[in-house]
Amino acid sequence: MTLLFKVADERAHVWKALFAEHAPDIDVRFWPDIGDPAQVRYFAAWQPPADLHERFPNLEVVFATSAGVDQFNLEQLPEHIAVVRMLDPGIAQGIAEYVGFSVLSLHRDIPDYLQQQQNHVWQTNALTAASKRRVGVMGLGNLGLTALDVLRPFGFALSGWSRTLKNLPGVTCYGGAEQLPEFLGQCDILLCLLPLTPETTGILNADTFAALPKGAKLINLGRGGHLVEADLLAAVDSGQIGHAIVDVLNEEPPTQDHPFWSHPKIWVTPHVGAMTDPRTAFEVLLGNVRRHERGEDMVGAVARGAGY
Ligand code: NDP
Ligand code: OXD
Repeated sequence: MTLLFKVADERAHVWKALFAEHAPDIDVRFWPDIGDPAQVRYFAAWQPPADLHERFPNLEVVFATSAGVDQFNLEQLPEHIAVVRMLDPGIAQGIAEYVGFSVLSLHRDIPDYLQQQQNHVWQTNALTAASKRRVGVMGLGNLGLTALDVLRPFGFALSGWSRTLKNLPGVTCYGGAEQLPEFLGQCDILLCLLPLTPETTGILNADTFAALPKGAKLINLGRGGHLVEADLLAAVDSGQIGHAIVDVLNEEPPTQDHPFWSHPKIWVTPHVGAMTDPRTAFEVLLGNVRRHERGEDMVGAVARGAGY
């Protein structure tokens, strides 16, 4: 039985060493050293090749090495092949740190103060108590809940929006498309941690920005496809959005002339919210292989219909 990885970076040797030490019974291979294609039952990649099931006739599970699976073409994979996303505790830790940095920066007007420093201006804004700052999280899954856990101790006024209505302590919850305007209307800081699906593509658009209180701030930690970039430019230029922090873009890396690079009201980071670390992800991946071998459900299995 072979577990085949297609990972293009230095993390390959870490996966290799971990499997060699803790699971020597599994034949672990790294693309393009595929061995006997008929032996490949597990495949792990950020983005698998399109003809995966044709190349590997006995493939049973595709593991995403990421939390999101929007880069997979799920329709191309036959139904009998399970798709499992990465629930690496290291990803949650990375997102927790990024949420802390970005929400606190916006809450404490740090973008304004960095601009002021450039202009040698010493000027204070009145402080807003965290309890008066309304932070709304789009997506209340693994990472949205992690974000709320980070923010709770500061005492922010928290809300969240998901497809199905949730009931979370200390969080005003909204569910479904019909409650989206009400949710948006009370967000001073909007944080997107949605998966990218046909329903959520382009959800950060002019209508969404217009539904926010004037001057609200935006953090996109989901996917570039959530954001209509031209609409964000218009919204920051009009002052409807006070500042935006975007970790993900439609085209990564963006072209040298992309307007976000130099916009004073947009901070860009190069998709570093979180990165899968084999050291923290290994147990999850191995655990799922073992579960599958025992005929048990795997953690992080993707619901094909919903796309996440
Ligand atoms: P989950 O699948 O655990 O959670 C997804 C959440 O989004 C759920 O609450 C779900 O609602 C909600 N949702 C899905 N579709 C809709 C919809 N149409 N309307 C409203 N809510 C919806 O995902 P994770 O929390 O693990 O990850 C979220 C995303 O974060 C990933 O898909 C990825 O794109 C991004 N990510 C970004 C990283 C970065 O480095 N920037 C790193 C890791 C992930 P419900 O609860 O009702 O099902
Ligand atoms: C992920 C990511 O989805 O890195 O894990 O964006």
